[in-house]
Amino acid sequence: MTINEAPATSLEDLYELFESLNVEAGWHRKAPALWAEPTKNFVPYRWNYTQVREALDAAGPLIDHSMADRRNVTLTNPIPGNTYATVRTLVGAYQMIRPGEIALAHRHTPAALRIILEGEGTYTVVQGQRVEMRTGDVLLTPSWLWHSHAHSGNSGEEDCYWVDILDVPLVHLLEPMFFERYPDGLEKDVANIDESPIAFRWTDGLQQLAQAPIAEDGMAEKSVELGDPAMPSIALYRQSMPSGFISRQCQTTANSIFTVVQGEGETEIDGEVFTWKLGDVIAIPMWRTYQHRVTQDAHLVRATDEPVMRALGLLRTKLV
Ligand SMILES: [Fe+2]
Repeated sequence: MTINEAPATSLEDLYELFESLNVEAGWHRKAPALWAEPTKNFVPYRWNYTQVREALDAAGPLIDHSMADRRNVTLTNPIPGNTYATVRTLVGAYQMIRPGEIALAHRHTPAALRIILEGEGTYTVVQGQRVEMRTGDVLLTPSWLWHSHAHSGNSGEEDCYWVDILDVPLVHLLEPMFFERYPDGLEKDVANIDESPIAFRWTDGLQQLAQAPIAEDGMAEKSVELGDPAMPSIALYRQSMPSGFISRQCQTTANSIFTVVQGEGETEIDGEVFTWKLGDVIAIPMWRTYQHRVTQDAHLVRATDEPVMRALGLLRTKLV
């Protein structure tokens, strides 16, 4: 039936008419548009750094930088249909760079950061500033800034490993994706910088944590925010928890990715227990109740989309 024909006289005809007009009756939806509380689509997960590192080492001689601009593996949340994201808005990855390698300069609208796990001798160049990356450091690549990375060591020296976290899945949802390679591969006239707003040093972090008050929310013993927030879409917290520490239980609409920089413990997420140690990455999707229990003095970096949820009035957190 079309609008030029006689009016629909049955509900069946009416719904057929609606369909031909690409409208749907609010009282007759195929799928609900509203529900009582968040649907838990993404699952909690822990990536084992030791295992992934071995896989990356195997990739080392097989994949060089002529085949892959960046030798990284993304941490794909194991839910049906997902091919990329770690949680709804964020993706994590492990990356390995070998002595002498250079990841050429590019820029993209998604924001990125890296948390250095192992190895010395790497540096990142962000918008003309060359910053050394050391173990435990957190370095930012804000939206649309040129960036390249390199390992300055000679062959035979240690490979370097880090965790990348980006808001690419959020940009996929919102759609303003832009990506560009630097015309000549690498930026020229680069300045060496040691202190930079994009570099949060491990040593500074330790000092800040030592001076910080006990965390009010009870989700760590101490918690220090890096930046305010670090980037518009991602907030970062360095958190310390001594052996024996048991956090409160937290349920929040913010998605989180935790990276273990030091120590060991376990996190119970919606009743499932995930053990962790150095380099492991834990995905805690929104609205999953979680609690940390620490067995060896630990430092974690929490990356979260809290600023997005807060800006939209969607941040809700329950602490038990
Ligand atoms: Fe990049």
